[in-house]
Amino acid sequence: MTTKVFFISRRSFLKRCSLAAAATGLPAWFVERDLAEAAPAPKLGPNDRPAIALIGCGGMGRADAGNARRFGDLVAVCDVDDSHAAAAAEQFSADGKKPVIYNDFRKVMARRDIHAIINATPDHWHTLINLAAAKAGKDAYGEKPLTLTIGEGQRLVRAVRKSRIVFQTGTQQRSSARFRLACELVRNGRIGRLRQITVWLPAGLRGGPFSAKPVPAGLNWDFWLGQAPKVEYVPQRCHSTFRYWYDYAGGTMTDWGPHHNDIVLWALGLPGPVTVEATHSSEPIPGGYTAYSDYEVHFTYANGVRHTVKSTRDDTIYGAIVNETGQRNGIKFEGDNGWIWVNREELEAGDESLLSTPLPAGALRLYKSDDHMRNFFECIRSRQLPVADVEAGHRSASICHLGVISLRLGRKLQWDPAREEFTGEGAREARAFLTREMRKPFNYHFA
Ligand SMILES: NC(=O)c1ccc[n+]([C@@H]2O[C@H](COP(=O)([O-])OP(=O)(O)OC[C@H]3O[C@@H](n4cnc5c(N)ncnc54)[C@H](O)[C@@H]3O)[C@@H](O)[C@H]2O)c1
Repeated sequence: MTTKVFFISRRSFLKRCSLAAAATGLPAWFVERDLAEAAPAPKLGPNDRPAIALIGCGGMGRADAGNARRFGDLVAVCDVDDSHAAAAAEQFSADGKKPVIYNDFRKVMARRDIHAIINATPDHWHTLINLAAAKAGKDAYGEKPLTLTIGEGQRLVRAVRKSRIVFQTGTQQRSSARFRLACELVRNGRIGRLRQITVWLPAGLRGGPFSAKPVPAGLNWDFWLGQAPKVEYVPQRCHSTFRYWYDYAGGTMTDWGPHHNDIVLWALGLPGPVTVEATHSSEPIPGGYTAYSDYEVHFTYANGVRHTVKSTRDDTIYGAIVNETGQRNGIKFEGDNGWIWVNREELEAGDESLLSTPLPAGALRLYKSDDHMRNFFECIRSRQLPVADVEAGHRSASICHLGVISLRLGRKLQWDPAREEFTGEGAREARAFLTREMRKPFNYHFA
């Protein structure tokens, strides 16, 4: 058998590069480097399609599952709300085959034919389900923020390492060339000594008071609440807006925060800050969402870099623009020689040459992934660490939890990122936030 080799001329290669550069807004040298090094995507045979289960069939779960079906077969869906599970099963029926519906994730874990799970439940359910996946030896794509507490993250990292499952965190900005380039430039000293990083996150919802309602048919409210305190059903506590209640999440600090702060840690190459000091500028409405919606958090690092996280009301939580000339969500890196701004749509610098000048051949390079879900499935085959491995997911969640702890205590705190412990004044109070009491039976013995 002969193999046909197609040669592409240097001229047409460069044309492709400049077209790609124009389309993405990335500098031509970076696009050229990426394209020149691009390995063809490995061909998949019919037996290479792992069986996948989706756990948590809300907005993000269904988006993730649609994405994952490019690489595997969705054979099961699981939700504690029957209507969400049924809708997902309907959406993902193919060739006369419908995914099997479950309402208890432990039954999914018991199915030996299922290779990988997607966990897109609310934040307070992430850890128990991810731990169950590790115990069952199933690879997992787990949505951000990885955990509800820093203590959960420490346990999960240990369990993933012990079980050797492949774990990808749903912080997909790590698979964007724009963010990778910004981090490579910062890491290689392009803006000189890094001094200040400023992150803007969309402000949270501030609403209430809300009243209790009858539990909708088909929703297992007690299971949905899981480890969180038992309360009456309030629709705003449940689907989608659970993020604005400290019982289940941490407001936009832990919703958008794990995306942008993950990029900050990637650019720094550090596991976390050494101090955190947070303030809020609006009070939650009694009987309404409990998480602070408008806030400012200041971190410092062992190398002297300052990192500020501010909420902005000019962008919505969905990334939509409210005020065209206002403050976009995103990240600004400032150093002695200039600044770089990056978000999901833009990459800019104080001086164009900071972007347009290629990095030298020996420059430090970061993990290259241009497709977060593909990277997960490639790692399932290669057994290598994915670009947003569990440790990265844990650290990007931890920094946001630190911000929330300081916000809730209203004080400055010292943190030892190597030992993952609070030190100095206020440490005793802050330590109480590293774990939470888990309502029985939804504790670590549950799965
Ligand atoms: N990576 C991203 O860009 C991105 C974007 C949006 C949301 N997310 C994350 O995805 C997760 C889900 O967010 P969403 O907006 O889809 O929420 P959602 O409320 O729309 O969906 C969550 C679903 O999980 C179900 N659920 C709750 N407990 C369960 C359990 N124990 N077992 C099975 N199902 C359970 C709920 O009934 C619901 O259907 C969150 O952690 C969120 O932070 C990530």
